[in-house]
Amino acid sequence: MRDTITIAMCGKGGVGKTTTAALMVKTLAERGDKKILAIDADPAIGLSYALGINVDKTVDDVRNNLIQKVKEKKIGDRDDTLRMLDYELFDVLVEQGKFSLLAIGRPEGEGCYCEVNTLLKDIIESLSSNFDVIIIDGEAGIEQINRRVMKIVDHLVLVSDTSSKGLNVAKVIKKVAHDNQVVDYKSTGLLLNRIRDEEEVNTIMKQQDIDLFGWIPEDELIREYDFSGKSYLDFPETSPIGKVVQDILDSFIINGGAAMSG
Ligand SMILES: Nc1ncnc2c1ncn2[C@@H]1O[C@H](COP(=O)(O)OP(=O)(O)OP(=O)(O)O)[C@@H](O)[C@H]1O
Ligand SMILES: [Mg+2]
Repeated sequence: MRDTITIAMCGKGGVGKTTTAALMVKTLAERGDKKILAIDADPAIGLSYALGINVDKTVDDVRNNLIQKVKEKKIGDRDDTLRMLDYELFDVLVEQGKFSLLAIGRPEGEGCYCEVNTLLKDIIESLSSNFDVIIIDGEAGIEQINRRVMKIVDHLVLVSDTSSKGLNVAKVIKKVAHDNQVVDYKSTGLLLNRIRDEEEVNTIMKQQDIDLFGWIPEDELIREYDFSGKSYLDFPETSPIGKVVQDILDSFIINGGAAMSG
């Protein structure tokens, strides 16, 4: 039985996955009572940047290196390979004191190196078990939901703005995730972003059969942080958005994923 709680942000492009993932990492890091792993699963790198971290090396680099070794037949037995991967992944892991970060790069390389992917999946899972909470900033769209990283998710956060396209992508992701039953989700719900007022939330939720985890208003400070490229680790405590993020995290960590009522 795994004790680690894994929370993943999924949804259409540009709806706020990275922003909300970064705010979650910041909130948990500040609390300081959990070992946190942030996983940047956006091939274009999102969460790392939002947390002010420069990425030198990704999991994809480790994979390519291993594939090269396989091609050149420079590979030992499985135990040797696992030891090597363990060492190399440790190199990819950025330790920041209050949290660690792993950037995935491309979720899967070209060609079928299924064995390499399976080895990596195993080793990421074993690394993950050293942490209490894992926050994943996913790639936009539905592709990733079946893949390596997403198989360890407990709480699937479907981030959406108010657009029907965003809400539809959320619905499709939920369906794909549940239909495939590749994951043992404890909860799936919407995190509505860039909301004007509560009325808007009520109108949207009347037309959804997905639970609501919470909602975040359109926020001037987020715009400013984005504009100036500031790290969300410095986002002020006093922002009401902190409370929204805190409540959602509490629902996962304390209540096991209860959605908002009403
Ligand atoms: N609540 C908000 N208020 C104002 N601006 C916001 C809010 N949430 C997100 N944004 C802005 O919307 C843009 C997209 O946000 P973000 O990068 O978090 O989305 P994303 O889902 O990670 O996008 P991608 O799919 O490209 O990775 C950014 O410019 C961000 O600053
Ligand atoms: Mg992003």
